[in-house]
Amino acid sequence: MWVALEELLEPLIVRVEDTADRSTVEYAFAHSPVRIGRSVRNDLPLPHGFVSASHGLVEFDGALRRYTDLGSTNGSVLDGEPLAPRVAVPLEPGAELVIGSLRLTFPSPAASITASAPGSTGPPEPEPPPIRAGGITALMQRLAAAPSEERAWQDVLYPGAVIGRFELVREIGRGSFGLVFEAEDRQLRRRVAFKAVRPGRNSQVMLRQERLQKEAEAIAQLAHPNIVTLYDAGTAESGPYLVLELLQGETLHGTMRRGRVGHAHAIEIAIEIAWALDHAHAAGVVHRDLKPANVFVCASGAIKVLDFGIASVLGGGDLRAVGTPAYMAPEQWRMGVQDARTDVFGAAAILCELVTGRLPYRVTKDSSAVLEPGARPMVDAPGVPEVLRGLLRRALSPDPEDRPKDGGAWLAELLAIQEELDRPRVEPAPPPPVPRRRASGEWPLVLIATGIAAAAIGALVWGLVLLK
Ligand SMILES: Nc1ncnc2c1ncn2[C@@H]1O[C@H](COP(=O)(O)OP(=O)(O)O)[C@@H](O)[C@H]1O
Ligand SMILES: [Mg+2]
Repeated sequence: MWVALEELLEPLIVRVEDTADRSTVEYAFAHSPVRIGRSVRNDLPLPHGFVSASHGLVEFDGALRRYTDLGSTNGSVLDGEPLAPRVAVPLEPGAELVIGSLRLTFPSPAASITASAPGSTGPPEPEPPPIRAGGITALMQRLAAAPSEERAWQDVLYPGAVIGRFELVREIGRGSFGLVFEAEDRQLRRRVAFKAVRPGRNSQVMLRQERLQKEAEAIAQLAHPNIVTLYDAGTAESGPYLVLELLQGETLHGTMRRGRVGHAHAIEIAIEIAWALDHAHAAGVVHRDLKPANVFVCASGAIKVLDFGIASVLGGGDLRAVGTPAYMAPEQWRMGVQDARTDVFGAAAILCELVTGRLPYRVTKDSSAVLEPGARPMVDAPGVPEVLRGLLRRALSPDPEDRPKDGGAWLAELLAIQEELDRPRVEPAPPPPVPRRRASGEWPLVLIATGIAAAAIGALVWGLVLLK
């Protein structure tokens, strides 16, 4: 787990002087951002009547510091200038922030320590301000406990937090880069899914934010019942976010963990995913991260494809080696050209896992058997119809040329197989009822034979009588 080293070495010190009663308290923070406000939910709670419940926010990263007034009623004044709400402004060294009768300054940690260093010469130094109980102690505890990125993140995104018009209700999922909350859209009075990026090093966060922006752009091109709907996207103090339709149910990963589904059901699921791909590919979007955790099985039974975070819009040219190893096509491993056939591979890997209970190629974090010369997918399992195995072999071929060319072609093949496996079997016709009277030509052979035999016996008996 990553620890923000520069933040550990350079904590943020906030000195708060109350000009009304001349008291001074210093606070120390090892994580960014620091939320300032009257409510005890804040990192720096200031229980004064003129401070808003969520008044402002200080972000810091090494030497860079900035302050954002969150739209407080009584406002914040920086170096004599009233601040516009919700606009981040830099906090230069020596900056003075005034909220009502409070004066906030941000001494460097070294300066703060020097002020109280014994043995200094010159005029007697004023008494160093008392350190707020729990302030530095909390910092020391954080240092000792190697604060986790999750803890820092919870400072911004937590149930009850209000971000713009969205109130976070509870966390409902997390992936490799996103954190998803159920949220209440206070304006439209509806429940939504609110997706933001997970914390990490600045470079990581920037990459994740870029990914979230790309995800918004990709889903915005699409409108399909098998693809999660994007309602909105924006940026708040917590970073960029997406607002998506809230899905009820579980991911396909969850369904698969509980056991195998029959192959007819598996084909139905694959067909739903293929519809989504057909639409996405026609719109020029390649998903590139198809896997059970990115497919949602709604309580209604509907299937929705999620997470277009590494989708590429055809012609976009960004074909970095990204994806999830177990479902990655060889061209993704090799950073080669990735197109709609890359998604066919991912979708087929899901179907293969659904019907055989295992992945088509042995895979580790760093490599896959799909890269070995002459690789062939493992698609055999009892009960899997040969026609389905044949399709899986082609769709999972290391050579994209062998695969159905896009979502539409993959869909057509799946529909054909479903049709073939569904076709009612031809039962043997029941025996016809015995007619009362028959035309002479319809006498069954056995009766004719019996008749001939009887006639022959009759003739023989007649002959014997004559001889006598
Ligand atoms: N619209 C949604 N409704 C309900 N749950 C969702 C929604 N979007 C995502 N999730 C849940 O959050 C998890 C992570 O979301 P995802 O978009 O896959 O994030 P990441 O890009 O980090 O992989 C999903 O596996 C799913 O459980
Ligand atoms: Mg995901």
